[in-house]
Amino acid sequence: MEKEIVVSGIRPTGYLHLGNYFGAMRNYVRMQDEYNCYFFVADWHSLTTHPDTKELKNSVYRVLAENIACGLDPEKVALYVQSDVKEIAELYLYLNMLAYKGELEKVPTFKDKVRLQPDNVNAGLLTYPVLMTADILIHRATKVPVGKDQEQHLEMARNFAERFNHRYGETFPLPYAFNYNTGLVKIMSLDGNGKMSKSENQMATIFLSDDDELIRKKIMKAKTDAGPQENNSDKPDYIDNLFTLMNLVSKEDTLKKFEDDFNNCNIRYGDMKKQLAEDMALFIHPIREKAAAIQNDKVSLDKIMHEGAEKARASASKTLQLIKESMGLNY
Ligand code: TYM
Repeated sequence: MEKEIVVSGIRPTGYLHLGNYFGAMRNYVRMQDEYNCYFFVADWHSLTTHPDTKELKNSVYRVLAENIACGLDPEKVALYVQSDVKEIAELYLYLNMLAYKGELEKVPTFKDKVRLQPDNVNAGLLTYPVLMTADILIHRATKVPVGKDQEQHLEMARNFAERFNHRYGETFPLPYAFNYNTGLVKIMSLDGNGKMSKSENQMATIFLSDDDELIRKKIMKAKTDAGPQENNSDKPDYIDNLFTLMNLVSKEDTLKKFEDDFNNCNIRYGDMKKQLAEDMALFIHPIREKAAAIQNDKVSLDKIMHEGAEKARASASKTLQLIKESMGLNY
């Protein structure tokens, strides 16, 4: 039986952080053994918000290195850079004729970006979900491992795929956001303000490149409060986030101890954060060291990048042929 196809990408707009890891990369690593996987660095997407390309090349290498350091095996997956696969741009063009200005203007991520960069509301920003759809459909993927913030983009990808199929005949299977556990993951910022992100409050984001001291400092500063007043109360979201992180990096009995303390109103957040900081430092240490070593080996990274692009182009050109046949552009 043919393996199901998986696609996902990460923008090279800064250092990778725990949100990227637990929302996406952790699943990449697990999926590589079960599926036919295409993982890429979304350098075209980064141009919608980061027109200055001075840091871009370094960032692309770092994202590749960090993915490999987290356990991605370039022999098992196609690991490539988006701009190496020109077929994506051609599909983006076709899909743009099926995407309406009105629906694109309503996308919450577009509205956020308009607020953040009112002087650079470029057409690429508006059609960001269309390019993302092209990334996915170019391999006819069905599973897309992403964090919760990308859920709406996946819904749009399904709409565009359905619209294409309706207009030109059944060509694409429908893609869905994927996580092994139940819901999609959202790691919050340690200051309790929104999601952890590459570009917002750096002291409230834990990067995979942070050293042990910095990790401790950031976690000790994480937002807490006076603690629950009643047994078994609901957790405020910033406290829930600390438990989520503990669940991801600490031992089961450690988590249980603090869960019990919380439920009995005995919790000491200082102790919890100290423990979490130590477990987090242990978790990140090997990734950081491995990524730094890989990043220094540009020769190997170039080889990986080129081989990944070849694998991706082979799949993309096959799909493009199919697309052109469906559209009647096969002269
Ligand atoms: P990007 O670069 O913002 O993030 C990469 C991945 O990390 C996830 N993520 C999070 N998950 C949980 N909690 C967080 N705080 C958090 N922050 C980031 C994102 O959901 C994502 O999975 N548009 C995409 C890149 C992209 C793409 C694609 C993804 C371009 N084309 C095609 C999938 C398929 C983005 O900006 O990701």
